[in-house]
Amino acid sequence: MKGEYFTFKTLGELRGRVAGLGLAGEIGFADDIAPGRRDRAIASPARFGPFQLRNRLVAHPMEGWDGDADTGAPTPEVLRRWERMGASGAALLWGLEAFAVDTPYRANGRQLVMAPDNTGPISAGLRMIRKSAGAPVVIGAQLTCSGRWSRGGVFLMHHHPDLDRRVKGAESSPLMTDTQVEEVAGLYARAAGVAREAGFDFVDVKACHGYWLNEALAAKTRPGAYGGGLENRMKPLLMAVEAVRRGTDAGFPVGVRFSMFDGIPFEEDPAFRVPGLKGRGRPASCPLPYRWGFGTNEDDPTVPDPAEPLAVMGTLLERGVGMFNLSCGCPYANSHLLRPTETPPVDAYQPHHDPLHEVATHFRLAALAKLTHPAAAIAGAGYSYLRGFKFHAAEHNLAAGRADAAGLGRALLSYPDEIRRVLDTGAAPSARGKVVCTGDSACTTGPRLGFTSGCVYDPAYAEVIRDMNARLAGMGLRRK
Ligand SMILES: Cc1cc2nc3c(=O)[nH]c(=O)nc-3n(C[C@H](O)[C@H](O)[C@H](O)COP(=O)(O)O)c2cc1C
Ligand code: SF4
Repeated sequence: MKGEYFTFKTLGELRGRVAGLGLAGEIGFADDIAPGRRDRAIASPARFGPFQLRNRLVAHPMEGWDGDADTGAPTPEVLRRWERMGASGAALLWGLEAFAVDTPYRANGRQLVMAPDNTGPISAGLRMIRKSAGAPVVIGAQLTCSGRWSRGGVFLMHHHPDLDRRVKGAESSPLMTDTQVEEVAGLYARAAGVAREAGFDFVDVKACHGYWLNEALAAKTRPGAYGGGLENRMKPLLMAVEAVRRGTDAGFPVGVRFSMFDGIPFEEDPAFRVPGLKGRGRPASCPLPYRWGFGTNEDDPTVPDPAEPLAVMGTLLERGVGMFNLSCGCPYANSHLLRPTETPPVDAYQPHHDPLHEVATHFRLAALAKLTHPAAAIAGAGYSYLRGFKFHAAEHNLAAGRADAAGLGRALLSYPDEIRRVLDTGAAPSARGKVVCTGDSACTTGPRLGFTSGCVYDPAYAEVIRDMNARLAGMGLRRK
């Protein structure tokens, strides 16, 4: 609920809460992020994999449910988002947004598709981004198969005691055969070829947020060549990486947006409902040991077990994949892990504890990955919840070597050039269409109710937000 947790007017107040929660070892803040400060980490040029970045801030991939429904090509709404990402001031645009490797594997009917026929429009979009940036930017293409969340079929790597109930037909669906797994991995070759031809600088093989390659990593109960032990479970990801190499050339850079912690699905507890709002979240009832999560403690699946994610990162590094964008959770199962907020979207639940705990999880796991694999280039997440103090946290993490770059997702929808402003002046004052993200989740509630995704503070989406609010009211709900 709005104002239940995030009540901080000053950095001192926020630090006090962090300390009170016992999270001071995980979440730190620099006092000063003003441009006059020498060696300001967020603004420093840095090496990131094979690239030289002009600063250490990253735009995370953000889709808008607004690609062309028939072709999967970018529409004017998509291009507007890309242009704003280009102008954001971020030196690295990791992925832009999820591009399906083929139409059946889209997570929604308007997801973009990295198909040969879309090369021209995507290429034109990239040229526009580079122009709007006005300075060098590194742009990656996020390639995905949506797995069990695909629109064109039920593509399961394992049966899940809770998630099968959330996907129509999953309980009675057979698992993907090993041959199907090999075929889908092979599709990354064509898609990567399109990405390179369109002008991307690298390809991100998405393995997070519960989509196909993430579910593959978690498929402990799957029989056969791609299930059971970690060696087998990481094969689909490695095959997709090899396919990218086949579709491009051996030297084309590859990164992985990677789940450090799947966790357990959450559900609303109706006992904690207040009028107009969903109930508090609680873990879904699943048998223990919990054998369906990657990076997840089997005895207590609400806490991470990073041993396997760290091992997979090591293998990827050996295979020449040196760039990682680390994340946690799944948008349809436990969105509080992925996008910490006190005002959740309509398909989620109210926080069961202070969302700073999830921010701490992101920061802790990124720092551990960096400590374990110093050669890896690591972009971290979890910043937008900190609102006006996120750059202080980024500065702390980067200066302390807890990540190589800090990524922003929602923040750039609500205040498209917040990074540029902060780098130039140290502050981001509110103006029309420029408000520091308050995590109000309209950008996710919209698509869950069949609208496109836009920010509540973006005047271009005023009509969408009005219609969405009316729909929510009809359901007896309000946004926050
Ligand atoms: C509207 C919306 C669209 C998103 N689209 C993608 C996507 O296409 N690919 C992806 O990896 N993550 C996607 N994410 C997750 C973000 O990249 C990011 O990890 C998440 O919002 C947490 O970062 P933040 O706290 O800075 O927002 C999306 C999130 C939102 C809210
Ligand atoms: S709607 Fe805007 S303010 Fe709300 S979470 Fe999304 S980007 Fe942030």
